[in-house]
Amino acid sequence: MPLTKNEVEALVSAARSVRDNAYAPYSQFRVGAALLCDDGSIVTGCNVENSSYSLTCCAERTAVFTAVAQGKRSFTAMAIATSRQPVAPCGACRQVLAEFNPAMTLILCDENADHAFRTMTDLLPDPFTPDMLAQ
Ligand code: THU
Repeated sequence: MPLTKNEVEALVSAARSVRDNAYAPYSQFRVGAALLCDDGSIVTGCNVENSSYSLTCCAERTAVFTAVAQGKRSFTAMAIATSRQPVAPCGACRQVLAEFNPAMTLILCDENADHAFRTMTDLLPDPFTPDMLAQ
């Protein structure tokens, strides 16, 4: 089912809002992510950097891990808002998103009114998924 205008607006607004909580003292690149769950709820996350740089967690994974901790595993879409230009998720986040929905819709945005739509199918074709571990 395509996303409704209300769902897109709610996701973009939630992603922009949680971006304010990003802990990004090293890159100054603040990112917020808002995940639409199949029960209609929205779970958010921001990037959290660390003085040991490689321990940084992206906003997208923070949102997914928070949702899973709340007992949610079925996701239909995610909005990603940055403090500069819109960006698509990094490779690690693509793999984490594909675990739960390899066809998820992504909405990429910044402060401008326009959003770019992508699908995980386009961003991570031929993903490794849980069913491949089945005996
Ligand atoms: N970052 C994200 O949170 N999501 C992305 O899609 C790209 C990168 C974060 C990680 C790091 O805190 C900062 O942006 C610069 O790489």
